[in-house]
Amino acid sequence: MKTTITEVSKYVGQEVTIGAWLANKRSSGKIAFLQLRDGTGFIQGVVVKAEVEEEVFKLAKSITQETSLFVTGTVQEDERSPFGYELTVTNIKVISESVDYPITPKKHGTEFLMDNRHLWIRSKRQHAVMKIRNEIIRATYEFFNNNGFVKVDPPILTGSAPEGTTELFHTKYFEEDAYLSQSGQLYMEAAAMALGKVFSFGPTFRAEKSKTRRHLIEFWMIEPEMAFYEFEDNLQVQEQYVAYIVQAVLKNCALELKILGRETETLSKITAPFPRITYDDAIKFLHDKGFDDIEWGDDFGSPHETAIAESFDKPVFITHYPTALKPFYMQPDPNRDDVVLCADLIAPEGYGEIIGGSERIHDAELLAQRMKEHDLSPEAYQWYLDLRQYGSVPHSGFGLGLERTVAWLSGVEHVRETIPFPRLLNRLYP
Ligand code: 4AD
Ligand code: MG
Repeated sequence: MKTTITEVSKYVGQEVTIGAWLANKRSSGKIAFLQLRDGTGFIQGVVVKAEVEEEVFKLAKSITQETSLFVTGTVQEDERSPFGYELTVTNIKVISESVDYPITPKKHGTEFLMDNRHLWIRSKRQHAVMKIRNEIIRATYEFFNNNGFVKVDPPILTGSAPEGTTELFHTKYFEEDAYLSQSGQLYMEAAAMALGKVFSFGPTFRAEKSKTRRHLIEFWMIEPEMAFYEFEDNLQVQEQYVAYIVQAVLKNCALELKILGRETETLSKITAPFPRITYDDAIKFLHDKGFDDIEWGDDFGSPHETAIAESFDKPVFITHYPTALKPFYMQPDPNRDDVVLCADLIAPEGYGEIIGGSERIHDAELLAQRMKEHDLSPEAYQWYLDLRQYGSVPHSGFGLGLERTVAWLSGVEHVRETIPFPRLLNRLYP
């Protein structure tokens, strides 16, 4: 029976054949332990000299790392392995030999591993992170589909800049200037007026000259937008959504979390609602903690965010930021003009901002005035202004950065390990 590693539990006591690669190997004169991987998972194959034909044992002792194989053996339950099963090997057939595989079981430096990212993704830890990323994507579609949202795909080639002009990724659109999308939000607002509750999931580009563990040049964002939703409604969607993906990862990626050594006690407590703190109170809190370097009107740096997050055991919303710190489209607080109805969601354990969102301006005049203040050309944004001309309604939305969320849930330090082929300030290869 030909099967895969994740399916072996169905064949306990039976003989199966698995197409696999040799991840690692240990052997003595009498026994060889093959660490096998097939993409679906990892399993140990045990080859006992006394129980197999002579050539099979010889082959088991000589196969090199990453050689591809068909391995035949009997499935055994095995309580000692985290996976729960192992294979008593009866036969091995080499498909294609691998010579001098560069990533050996010894420790390698990050730059070397990044140069070999196309191979590094085969390793057990990287495999686990990719599976967690996949689970977050799966649960995202499930959550929004279950809650009446329609998936809408905004364009990637655009003529405008929703999040400010400094980080635009410039390109040519034949004779015209164009930019790779830095957020689909403005288009999602149009979509919400057509379909009510919508979400997008796609690549986003920021030519940010930041070299931090939280910044990618190309990252993936989930952007929901809801007609008739106000500030508070928006926060409720966010906390329910984030709690949903955390619980999905705990439930469906238990083995991956174990492989990564991810502490899950704190994750299991992540349920809605989430705590909130206003920007004003966050500034006071930081002053009380001895941060003298920050004043009202300044943006938070990562040490500030981390200090705030550390005083909560769930993600925390920082709300009502100063108007000047945020993009042109955010709805002002009705009680005071110097702050907007926005919130950033800060993940626990120092993983930083995972969501930015707000209520949007729905008044045509106010929006036109804000665009003027931000030097945005009315021609390029005429279509966006039209949304306020023809039956404007209050509406809100947010953007969740996938890679920062994967980093948090996987417990990996740096976002470069949370996307298959990271695009970083100094890296476009492989
Ligand atoms: O806060 P941002 O810039 O918000 C927006 O783009 C809004 N238009 C979203 C919306 O309301 N529809 O980005 C949203 C999230 C951040 O919280 C962060 O998680 C992630 O996107 N993000 C990045 N992730 C990796 N690398 C970068 N350079 C990122 N910039 C933002
Ligand atoms: Mg932000």
